[in-house]
Amino acid sequence: MQLFHRPRRLRRTDWSRRLVQENQLSSNDFIYPVFLLEGKNRQEEVKSMPGVNRVSLDLLLPIAEDCVKLGIPVMALFPVISSELKTADGKEAYNSNGLIPLAVKELKKHFPNLGIMTDIALDPYTSHGQDGIIDENGYVINDITVEALVKQALTHAHAGVDMVAPSDMMDGRIGAIRDALEAHGFIHTQIMAYSAKYASAFYGPFRDAVGSAGNLGKGNKKTYQMDPANSDEAIREVSLDIEEGADMVMVKPGMPYLDIVRRVKDELGYPTFAYQVSGEYAMIKAAAINGWVDGDAVMMESLLAFKRAGADGILTYFARDAARLLQQK
Ligand code: PBG
Repeated sequence: MQLFHRPRRLRRTDWSRRLVQENQLSSNDFIYPVFLLEGKNRQEEVKSMPGVNRVSLDLLLPIAEDCVKLGIPVMALFPVISSELKTADGKEAYNSNGLIPLAVKELKKHFPNLGIMTDIALDPYTSHGQDGIIDENGYVINDITVEALVKQALTHAHAGVDMVAPSDMMDGRIGAIRDALEAHGFIHTQIMAYSAKYASAFYGPFRDAVGSAGNLGKGNKKTYQMDPANSDEAIREVSLDIEEGADMVMVKPGMPYLDIVRRVKDELGYPTFAYQVSGEYAMIKAAAINGWVDGDAVMMESLLAFKRAGADGILTYFARDAARLLQQK
């Protein structure tokens, strides 16, 4: 053959492949989610997420230090709340002496240069496992829930959090939280909006990890989280959150929704993040542990795919493992 184009020419050697590589992964791309327990010197495995533990604050400090050393910019805190503290209205969510505010203070004291992000939603704190306050039919009441979320965000801001991340999908909550932060002088507190958050079965292991699965029972979150069938709706949700004052937006879950990441990035051009959620982590880990796939290779490929889809960063339980591999290279 006498070919004019031979695309394989650029792929022949390692140096050439490196030269033409379009996307790169770095530890700067990662946000590391952790599960926080009450008390001291406590560590529990999350069975459905091999390699992930719930830990108490004293054991979280060395993990935070590891994140700093690895160059991971942000750690995201998720609380495991004991059942005695869970109520129908989830009011523990805005207890200024609660698990999260105390952890934020301590972490910021020890590691001022590590970004700390907290989840804004009531599900770890409610006796029914929903993200908000429910009526007699179990329907999550939007506006009353937003009032509670505002209190939760202000409590975290008072504790010194860098970034609040509303993951509840109530209407108008980004605007309400932004107004409250401004009114109270928290002009530097960032909002990362879980804007296009789908009602997904991939959150299963997370609900085990924070202990909300039992409370939620056979319930679901379809009256507020998005229908996996929809894509235009994601653009509307993200647009609203941007108008209401979000600094960054997020698509969740991750890998099955890379088409949404690409659309959001292309159409809105905003700092866009994706959450590689617990079920995605669990699937990769399970296959790796069984020897069915090369765990490290699949982990790195999955993370690079987010970058290719247009994500500016990834929330991932692999953050430390991936950053360590990148450091070794
Ligand atoms: C709570 C929240 C969830 C996740 C992050 N924040 C669960 C849910 O909406 O039920 C899921 C994270 C994961 O699966 O890794 N609102």
